[in-house]
Formats: sequence, structure tokens, C-alpha cells
Amino acid sequence: MNQILIIDDEDGIRNVLADILTDEHYQVHKAANGQEGLRLLASELIDLVYLDVWMPGMGGLDVLRAIRETYPEIPVIMISGHANIEMAVKAVRQGAWDFIEKPLSIDKTLSLTQNALKVIELKRENRALKNALASEDQMIGSAPSMKHVLELISQSAGVNTRVMILGENGTGKELVAREIHRQSPRARRAFIEVNCAAIPDALFESELFGHEKGAFTSAVARRKGKFELADSGTLFLDEVADLSLPAQAKLLRALQEMRFERVGGEQTLHVDVRVICATNKDILAEVAAGRFREDLFYRLNVVPISVPALRERVEDLPQLVDYFFRKFLKAKGSDGPPPVFSEQAMKLLQQYPWPGNIRELRNYLERVSLMVDEQIIDPETAVLFLGPTTPGQTEAPNPLAPWEHLGLNSAKDAFEKAFIEDRLKKNQYNVSKTAQSLGLYASNLHTKLKKFAIEGEK
Ligand SMILES: Nc1ncnc2c1ncn2[C@@H]1O[C@H](COP(=O)(O)OP(=O)(O)OP(=O)(O)O)[C@@H](O)[C@H]1O
Ligand SMILES: [Mg+2]
Repeated sequence: MNQILIIDDEDGIRNVLADILTDEHYQVHKAANGQEGLRLLASELIDLVYLDVWMPGMGGLDVLRAIRETYPEIPVIMISGHANIEMAVKAVRQGAWDFIEKPLSIDKTLSLTQNALKVIELKRENRALKNALASEDQMIGSAPSMKHVLELISQSAGVNTRVMILGENGTGKELVAREIHRQSPRARRAFIEVNCAAIPDALFESELFGHEKGAFTSAVARRKGKFELADSGTLFLDEVADLSLPAQAKLLRALQEMRFERVGGEQTLHVDVRVICATNKDILAEVAAGRFREDLFYRLNVVPISVPALRERVEDLPQLVDYFFRKFLKAKGSDGPPPVFSEQAMKLLQQYPWPGNIRELRNYLERVSLMVDEQIIDPETAVLFLGPTTPGQTEAPNPLAPWEHLGLNSAKDAFEKAFIEDRLKKNQYNVSKTAQSLGLYASNLHTKLKKFAIEGEK
């Protein structure tokens, strides 16, 4: 529900306006002067302000200036008597959205309100889109296998061919799909993603092709399907190998002709959609086992792109590490230099198998950037945050994994350091209490704190 603030010293005007707006289900706040209005702006989520031009004390133009400074996006509509129209015009020149004359006309009030709120909503959407773009990752990588992927992307982007993207979990398949779309002539049109693994069979047709009102019990209104939404854009069928055989048959028919009907509809719709799909399964094995239709496979797999696993291109690690560290720093609002891994630590990262690939790397680096203050990260610290904590991994976590790649002495040290740090924290950094709980003399613990460069309190 939109919230509207009325600032006017006249009770009559405040109440009439509030009644008009409340009848239209807006939530209304009232203030009898500028100061009170500014206080409400600070405490409530106001979408629109009605402001009297002429008020004793802090005048309308001063209040307007204060609002524009602190809340430049909130539209302000001035309320003006006939005698001070000139001031209202001046206010519009100074950034008010519009003005309305007393006595207030209901129609004019409502149309002004709707227009101003529509504009603020568009601005918000716009910002959401920009944020989504800014948070998307760049494709980082210069290993030969990645260069090959980048070539395939730019070669296939310009033409409308169907692309099948293959690769393990978290290798960047979705990023590849988005990149193809971005480099294609369809870039300004929709990119619609369908997670095939997440759609129950019974809803498959309605999700992809839409439905008419009343097609089934819960179809209370006509709804567009993903194919229709992607018209003149790109449709990304993610996890395509997870589709059931009946769903595959329905998809095949739509792909053959690019025609379909909404569920419960008579009309045949024709769309212009570029189809990209992805899977982390061995799709040829799925075909061989009869779980994936061969004819559908050939329809989808015109250009295959295999995204390499991270462990097959470890030479890209330094570049990826730098990229993600900078990104996390920037998100924190810092523009200092990103931390780096010591040579030994980087070696360790290059030996780790990264079963969750870039997604795992990204999560790992995020943990490190949150928890570690050092500018140069040593192997002992690096290893502390490494391990099978990525969700979606199937193997049972191996409790020794963080130390798997270390020699016995480094492993013992890394463990000891982590153990002591944990116990210190549990004892509120009280050294003698910690020593007692560890069964050590305090002096002994002091030596260890020094050895591992553990700080007293964080
Ligand atoms: N080359 C790359 N450079 C930078 N970031 C990348 C790269 N590849 C992937 N990423 C990032 O890694 C994360 C995982 O990528 P993405 O979701 O594309 O993988 P996926 O292969 O689709 O994974 P899944 O199989 O789990 O669906 C995303 O945050 C993505 O932005
Ligand atoms: Mg994906």
C-alpha cells in the first residue's frame, strides 16, 4: 500500500485530502507544519508528499528544499491557494512534481496522485534492473579451455542457433547463457530462465505455454507461459536433462514448430524465441539409457559448449581470486587493495579439487574476506576456510578435508590454532580461563598465542 504524507497547517485541507486519499486505499499521514512533516518522512516509508505552499513558520519552499535534499526521489505535489499560484510555479521549477489549487478537485487529486506514484515505481524498477546487472559476474578466465568457450560464445551469439551448455555444478553455465544473450541482437529483449528440475510434471505445460482463465481450478486468470514471455528474446532451459519423458515430448513439439496453445486455449500462438539449454548431467549417457529423447537432444544440441571444471584450469585461479576479492571489498564500500594468497597458499588452492567449482570458490573467498584481516594470506589460514561446506554436495563431509593437503606439521599447527582461537572466544578472551579449560599453564598458552599470532580480542 502506498503511503502519502500531507503537510498543511489548515485542518480543513488536511482532512479533506486525507478523506479523498483514504477512500482510494492509500495510507495517509498528516502533519500540521514542516518540522513535523520532516519527522514523519524520517520515520515512515513515504512514497508521495502533498505540501502547502503557504505556511507560517517554515514555509513550503523551505520544506520542499529540505525534502529534495534528503529524499530526492519522493515526488512532492504543492497545494496552493489562488493568491499564491506564482509561488507554486516557482516550487515546480525548484523540483516539485506539480501543484494543485484549492478548492481541491477530487478527480485532479486522484490523477495527480496516480501519475506521481507510477513514476516513482518506474524509477524503482529501473534501479532494480541496474542492480541486477551490476551484481552479475563478468566472465573471468584466460586458460585455453576458457578462451575456447569465449570464442564459441561470440560465434554463436550473432546467429540464432540453439546452444547446449554442458558442465559440472557451478562451472558458470548460466553465466555463459546470459553472455550469449547479451552479445546477441536480442540483448535488449527478455532473457527468461526455466529451471526444468523444479517444475512438477503436472504444471509443466502451464508453466511453459501458459493457460487460459478457467483452464483448471486454480487458473483464476489468463497467464502467459515462459515461451510467450521470451518472445523475441531468449529462453534458457536450465537442468534440461531432468525433464520427465512426457514433458520432453511436449517440449519437442513446441520446439519443432515454435507453435503451441495455452492450456485450455484454442488459439495457436507462434513465437520467435532463441533457445539455450544447460545440464550438469552426462546427457549422452541419459540418451543411451533411454531417459532423454534422442530427437529432442538433436533439436537442442546444435552448438554444444562444454564449460571446463575449475580444477582443469587452475591457472585462472589468481585472476579469479583477485576479481572476487575486489568485488567483495567494493560491496563493503572499501577501495583498498584486495588481500592476496601467499605463493604457498595459492599452490594449495590450485591442488584443491573444487567440486563445487566457481560457486564454491566464490563462497570460499567471501568467507575468507569476511574472516581474515591479513593482507597476505598464508597456507594455514587459507586451509581453515576450505572444505566441503558448499550445499548440494552429495558426498558426506570429510571432517579432515580442511587439512587434507597439508603435511602433518602444518596440519597440526592449523588445527591447534583454530582450536585455541575457538576456545578463547568461548572464554571471552580470558587467557587464564582458556588455559585452564585447555589443561595448559597460562604461560604455555601465551607462548602458543605468540607462535600462532593469535590476537587477544577481535
Ligand atoms: N568465469 C567466471 N568468472 C566469474 N564468475 C563466474 C564465472 N563462472 C561462474 N561465475 C560465478 O559463479 C557462480 C556460479 O555460476 P553459474 O550459476 O553460472 O553456474 P552453473 O554452472 O549454472 O551452476 P549449476 O550447475 O549449479 O546450476 C555465479 O555466481 C557466477 O556468476
Ligand atoms: Mg545453473
